[in-house]
This record gives sequence, C-alpha cells and structure tokens, in this order.
Amino acid sequence: MNFELKALDLKAAAGFNTDAVVVLLPSHFKPGRDVISQLVTKARANADLDDSVGKLLSIWHAEGVKAPRLILVSTGEGSARSVRTATTAAVAALKSVNPKSMAVCMPDGSQHRLHAVVQSVSDASYVFTTTKPSAKASLLKRVTVGLPTAEKVKALKVAFVTATALAQGVALAKEWGNRPANHATPSMLARAAQSLAKKSRIKCQVLGPKEVEKLGMGSFAAVAQGSSEPLRFIVLQYAGAAKTVAPTVLVGKGITFDTGGISLKPGPGMDEMKFDMCGAASVLGTFEALAALQPAINVVGLIPTCENMPSSKALKPGDVVTSMSGQTIEVLNTDAEGRLILCDALTYAKRFKPRAVIDIATLTGACVISLGHVRSGLFSPSDDLAQALMQAGEDSMDLCWRLPLDEEYAEGLKSNFADVANVAGRDGGAVTAAKFLQRFAKDFPWAHLDIAGAAWKTGAAKGATGRPVGLLLHYLLHTKA
Ligand code: BES
Ligand code: MN
Ligand code: ZN
Repeated sequence: MNFELKALDLKAAAGFNTDAVVVLLPSHFKPGRDVISQLVTKARANADLDDSVGKLLSIWHAEGVKAPRLILVSTGEGSARSVRTATTAAVAALKSVNPKSMAVCMPDGSQHRLHAVVQSVSDASYVFTTTKPSAKASLLKRVTVGLPTAEKVKALKVAFVTATALAQGVALAKEWGNRPANHATPSMLARAAQSLAKKSRIKCQVLGPKEVEKLGMGSFAAVAQGSSEPLRFIVLQYAGAAKTVAPTVLVGKGITFDTGGISLKPGPGMDEMKFDMCGAASVLGTFEALAALQPAINVVGLIPTCENMPSSKALKPGDVVTSMSGQTIEVLNTDAEGRLILCDALTYAKRFKPRAVIDIATLTGACVISLGHVRSGLFSPSDDLAQALMQAGEDSMDLCWRLPLDEEYAEGLKSNFADVANVAGRDGGAVTAAKFLQRFAKDFPWAHLDIAGAAWKTGAAKGATGRPVGLLLHYLLHTKA
C-alpha cells in the first residue's frame, strides 16, 4: 500500500480523482463554501451527522464530487484516539466496495492525528492471506492523506514518513505473529531476520544449537531440547550512528509454539500459543521500520527462538539447568519457559555495552488478568526508562502501565536445589516473572514489557496486533540520552 501526503482542501477533494473520499470532521469544524462543506452543513442540520466519534454518513455519487463515494465522519473533540476510531469506522464502511484508492482529508492535521490515520487505514485494510489464499485481499493501493494547505504538508512531512514506516513495521510483526507454528519455525524466523539484513545498515547473525551450547546458554538450550525443530539465536544489528554510540538492545521472546512442555497446557485455546513469538515479531517489525527510516542511532535485536514441546527428550519439572550467567535454575514448571530463554539472551546483551535493554515477551497469563488487552505490563527499576517508555506508549497509542518490582516479590523464587526457581506460585505472576528476569539484567538499564494481553486478539477477530512496534519505534526515535 502506498501512502502519499498532499495539500487537499475540501474544494480540491471534491475534484480529486479517487475511489472514495473520507472527510474527518471534528466538532469544531467550520464548513466553508465548497460542495463538501455544504453537504456537512445540511447533514448536521438534518441530524444525519452528529458529533459522536465514528458517526458517519456515506454518500454515493454526491453532486459536484468526482469520487463515487464520499464519507463524512465525526471525530468528536479530534483527539488521536477519536481519529483512530473514526478512520477505522470509515474504512470498515468501505470494506465491501474494496476500493483501489482513497483520500482521507484532515481539516486539522497534527503529528498524532496523522499517525492515527495512517495506522488505522493500514490496520483496517490488513488481510492475512499467507495460509488462506481464499481470503479477499485488500485492493487498496493508493491512500492520499489530504491536509488543507501546503504549509501543513511541509510541517508534517517527517511525521508522515515515520507513520508510514511504522505501519510497514506493524504489518510485518502481524504477518509473523499470525503465521501458524508450522509456517513460522525458528529457522523460518531466522530467515526472515536475514532477509531484513539485505537492507542498508542492517546486519544479521544466526546461531544454532552448537554455538548456543558453546556460549553456555544452558537455560535456553534446555527449553529447545524437547523439540526436533532446532533452536536459533538471532542477532540483528542496525548501525545508524558511530560505533562509539551505545546501542539500545531489544530482546524478543521467540517461542514459536508453547505447549507448556511436560507441564502441558490444557487443550482449549492452545492454538493461540502460536502467538508466543510476538515479542520476536515486534523486534523484526521495529527493524523493518528502522530500515525504512535510517535514523542516526544504534539498535541491537536479540531473538532466542525455539519450540516448547513435550517429548522423551524434554526438560522435566525439577530439572536444574545452568544459565549463561552461571546461575543455576530449578525448573519447577516447564510452562514458564519464556523467562528461561530470555535470561540467557539478557546475559548475552551485556557484550554490547548497551545504553538500555528492553525485553518484549508474551510472558504471563497473569499479566492478562492484571491489565487485560489494553495496556502492556511495563517493569523497570529505572524511573527514567520507565517514564520514557510510558510516554512512547502514549504518543503511539500503544499503551503500557508500570507494575512494581519490590524485592519481596522475589521471595517465592527461592529454591533448595538451585540459585533460583523459575516459578513462584500463582499470586502476582507477572511481577514474579519480571523479578526472575531482573536477576539477569543487573549490568545495564533494563525494562521488561509483558505483552501477553496486547500482542493478539482472540475471538472472531483473532489475530496479531503488531504491538508494541509503535511503542518501541517511538521510544527509539524520540528518546535522547
Ligand atoms: N506464553 C505463556 C504466557 C501466556 C499465557 C500468554 C496465556 C498469553 C496467554 C507463558 O509461557 C506461560 O505459559 N506462562 C505461565 C507461567 C506459569 C507457569 C508460572 C502462565 O502464565 O500460566
Ligand atoms: Mn509457557
Ligand atoms: Zn510461553
């Protein structure tokens, strides 16, 4: 899909050659004398259009409007969130038509509203076809975002380019998240990472079982040992700044399928554990966006990826493994495997002398109980890092919420047989998982994002969301020092 930004006031929009014109109307919008404005005035007067967010009026072959379809949609007070709701509603109203082109006119453009428009058009027209060739793919090729003046266009050009790159990154994260586990094995994820390395400033290195063993990643290797699919450890590097500039390291959980292992999960809904690599997918998506934007920063992406399977070779409850850090871990529950692969990746991260390390993981069902599907769980001992990530979430409408890391929460991780146990009972499960990870992240500023509730939707709209690529990209682009 191609986005373009254009000076297109409502008068010009009426003469614009496209399949559909969508006009976003904040309640404070003052209609002018052009044809579209007159329609707005009439519609408002007749109560065919009110100020409630997402309320829309579809007009077919409106007199004086070149495009066959015109959609007037209210954005209420005009916040980015309302713009998102309104745009989504408008694109949904056009779904059966499946237009090849459309124009979205924003009488009051701003950076955040522009992001909202681009992301929601992209989200609403996304169709997963990889393993469903019969799905009706979106035909939308050209989306023109119209601003009232050339000055506005100039002022928002950078924001627009960022928004389209982000949409591209989110789409890649969704694609990999949605692929079933037999179409997204650790080796396939590694190949996806390698193909990102064809782009400027990106390098990729892929380690296999032998190298991982040599590094001493006994915890990661132990999770993989139950599967005949070989593990991969993916190292992506984006070099946009001098070598001397410390990188931010992103660590993505890449469990391509989580059966629970010997601590087997119950059957119902288990298919959704194909999404257990959405942390990894968010790292790939972020790199896709970085490749498009080429910012002057350094970023490292680490993806430990494997399957968590039961078999005669599988890890057993009570087994003790030795992590790369040297700490031994008693595996009381093989279903708490995410932390077992992440801890070794966190230890590996140290070699990059990072300015910050952020891990992203569909880590705990407990986080879904705490925060539902709206906000990701955010954990960090650093107030500055937590604040920056929180802000990046607000700015990208990819929200998170900080949860605590008090030392008392680590009490239950004590073991009689190893330095630490991998579970601490049901209570406060998202926090105790974070406390486990924290033991391996002492040497650098660190944050953990538990995206178990945010990474995918269940039910009729089952599918990956591409979160938190928006949060991560905003953090990387806008956080200095
Ligand atoms: N991948 C799951 C977490 C998960 C569960 C995410 C459901 C989204 C929905 C993770 O590996 C897991 O199984 N965690 C266990 C931890 C427990 C054994 C301490 C959980 O949350 O039940
Ligand atoms: Mn698990
Ligand atoms: Zn898992």
